[in-house]
Amino acid sequence: MTGAAAANVYDDARRADAYAALEFPATYHLAFRDLPAIIARHVRGRVALDFGCGAGRSTRFLQRLGFAATGVDIAARMIERAREADPGGSYRLIGDGDFSGCQPASFDLVFSAFAFDNIDGAARRAGLLRGLGSLLARSGRVVLLDSTPEIYTHEWVSFTTRAFPQNRTAHSGDPVRIVMKDVPDRRPVVDYLWSHADYLRLFAAAGLRLVEECRPLGRADEPWPWEAELTIPPWVIYVLESHTP
Ligand SMILES: C[S@@+](CC[C@H](N)C(=O)[O-])C[C@H]1O[C@@H](n2cnc3c(N)ncnc32)[C@H](O)[C@@H]1O
Repeated sequence: MTGAAAANVYDDARRADAYAALEFPATYHLAFRDLPAIIARHVRGRVALDFGCGAGRSTRFLQRLGFAATGVDIAARMIERAREADPGGSYRLIGDGDFSGCQPASFDLVFSAFAFDNIDGAARRAGLLRGLGSLLARSGRVVLLDSTPEIYTHEWVSFTTRAFPQNRTAHSGDPVRIVMKDVPDRRPVVDYLWSHADYLRLFAAAGLRLVEECRPLGRADEPWPWEAELTIPPWVIYVLESHTP
C-alpha cells in the first residue's frame, strides 16, 4: 500500500504482552457476545481471515466458532505472541496492505476486530478494505468490529478516557486516546475517531454494501458493574457484502 502509515502503537513488546494475556473481560465481553449469532446469520462457509489479529485472541475466537482461521497482522511482536499462544494456528506477518499471500476470492468471512480503529486516513482505510473485499469468496461477508465515537468520551468498566478532554472536540479522522483498565500497561492507546457517516462513505469507496449493523449494550443481569455500557454502546459491528456477489 502506498502512503506513509502513522506509527502502529501495537508494534510494541509491552502492548503485545498485554494483548496476549487479554481475553474477553467486561466491556470486551460486549464486543464478542453477539458475534456468534451475527456470524451464524450471515456467513455460510468456514474459511476465515482475521485482519489485524494481534496476539490471536480474535483468531482463536473464530476457531472456537468452527472456522479454519488465518490471522494476519503488521506487528511482528503481536504475531510472535499469537504463535506462542497457539502453536498449531495459522498466523502471518504481512506488509501494510499486502494481501498477496492470501488467495483472492477464497474467504467466507473476513473478520477484523479493532484494527480499523488504528488506521488513519480515508484513502488508506478504503485501500485496505477494498483489498479485504477482494478476498471474499462468492457470498462471503466482511465483519468489522470497531469502537464507536462515544467510547472516547465516556467511562467504562474496561476503559477510561477522563484524562483526555481533547477527545470531546475531536472530529472524525482525528487521533483520540483511551486507557485500557484490564491490563498492566496503562499507556494510552492512540486510535482514530471514525463517525458512522464516514464508515458508510468508506464502505461505498471500498465497493461493499452494509447488510447489518449492531451496537451491543450491557445488560443489568451480567456480572460486571457496568458504567456507560448500559445506555451507550462502546462498539459497533458492521456486516458487509460485496457489491458484485
Ligand atoms: C487492538 S489490536 C486487536 C487485536 C485482535 N484483533 C484482538 O481483538 O485481540 C489491533 C491490531 O490491528 C493491527 N493492525 C493495525 N493496522 C494494521 C494493518 N494495516 N494491517 C494489519 N494489521 C493491522 C495492529 O498491529 C494490532 O495488532
